[in-house]
Amino acid sequence: MKDTKTNAEASTIKEDALKDFAKYVNPQKARILKNAGLDIIEGKREGARVWDMAGREYIDCISSAGCFNVGRRNPDVVAALKAALDEFDQGVFVFCHKPQADLSKKLAEITPGELRYTMFGSGGGEINDFAIKLARGFTLKTEIISTINAYHGHTGFSLSAIGREEYKKPFYPLIPGFKQVPYNDLKAMEEAMTPDTAAVIIEPVQGEGGIHPADDDYLRGLRRLCDQHEAVLIFDEIQTGFGRTGKMFCAEHSGVVPDIMTLGKSLGGGVYPITAAVYREELGDFLVTNPFIHLSTFGGSDLGCIVGLATIEILIRHRLPEHAALMGERFHAGFDRLIPKYPDLLLETRRKGLMMGLQFTNPSIGPRMTYQLAQNGVLALYTGNDPTVMRLMPPLVIKPQEVDRVLEALDKSMAAIMAQGGVEKY
Ligand SMILES: Cc1ncc(COP(=O)(O)O)c(C=O)c1O
Repeated sequence: MKDTKTNAEASTIKEDALKDFAKYVNPQKARILKNAGLDIIEGKREGARVWDMAGREYIDCISSAGCFNVGRRNPDVVAALKAALDEFDQGVFVFCHKPQADLSKKLAEITPGELRYTMFGSGGGEINDFAIKLARGFTLKTEIISTINAYHGHTGFSLSAIGREEYKKPFYPLIPGFKQVPYNDLKAMEEAMTPDTAAVIIEPVQGEGGIHPADDDYLRGLRRLCDQHEAVLIFDEIQTGFGRTGKMFCAEHSGVVPDIMTLGKSLGGGVYPITAAVYREELGDFLVTNPFIHLSTFGGSDLGCIVGLATIEILIRHRLPEHAALMGERFHAGFDRLIPKYPDLLLETRRKGLMMGLQFTNPSIGPRMTYQLAQNGVLALYTGNDPTVMRLMPPLVIKPQEVDRVLEALDKSMAAIMAQGGVEKY
């Protein structure tokens, strides 16, 4: 980005934008971000890095919870979108589209097992809504089982499926027929399932819940239980998909093929919203009688599908899932050095590829680490449902030197918290 503004001009524009945000968007949000040291306005973005418009450089370990797997403003994605704009717009949503056919075909090729058809959306909650509707419509059953601390989005069916009361409480009555059981606990799931169970929806790594990877045997057990009860198994891979966990899809680690896989975030290459639910051919029977029963004006637009195809092509060409696995190991070695150094702060780390969580000893540490890390040039947030866990999800294109910089910033940030009196003071 060519930027001819002086620092003083850029700072004024930034301050004005923050003031207008507080005045016209949400004052409380602006206050919280300021207190967290995250009152930045993103300017230049490139690879794993982002610059505050006032000039400060950061490594982006927030990545909008997994939107920037191919990097910030990946030049090939940007070029694909620019070229598409010479010819396309979003398209008329009721028509058959060539880019949609191309992307669906590609998704059928790269997703595991016999997943075949795709429904598109523009948001993750919306596409999980569809997955749950499809499960109910196909099975003619009503019960949906999800897990405590799960996150599937803030829309109707998805909100009913999430496992955090705080998000749901003001909106009761929600959609009936939903229940939550503890994560990674097969016995609890077995006891909860009934002949009326339509679907089990699960994140193969709980993201907002605090970065908890599911055991492979648990996922295999879920597959078996769903088969026994003729229920649909839905994997919500909105965060874990597209190389994040070191494989193209997290399902590949366990070899379990769900009946529906929902995808979002990085499918849009960080530049254009698009989400997808890829499902087994048999489930398509439900849509035969009414192919228009679920619609999305913006979902599966021509531009979004072209961007999605470019993104997948980049992930494959640059072997980004393999790179994520390697960089994840580099982080892991660094975490192993930090745990004994800060035993009062850091309990353990959990990780699958570059989906990483640092489990702290006290809920005050997550927010304080967010602040300290920002001071040390790293953007990172504690998880939505658990402030004792700091989530690190950098773009998969992160370089070894950038990994080392993040590790150094973690070290400095924990040292600063210890210097302030550690956990005792709070
Ligand atoms: C696992 C998972 N599912 C669903 C969603 C909801 O996606 P969206 O915010 O695009 O509605 C998210 C968002 O963070 C997510 O992490």
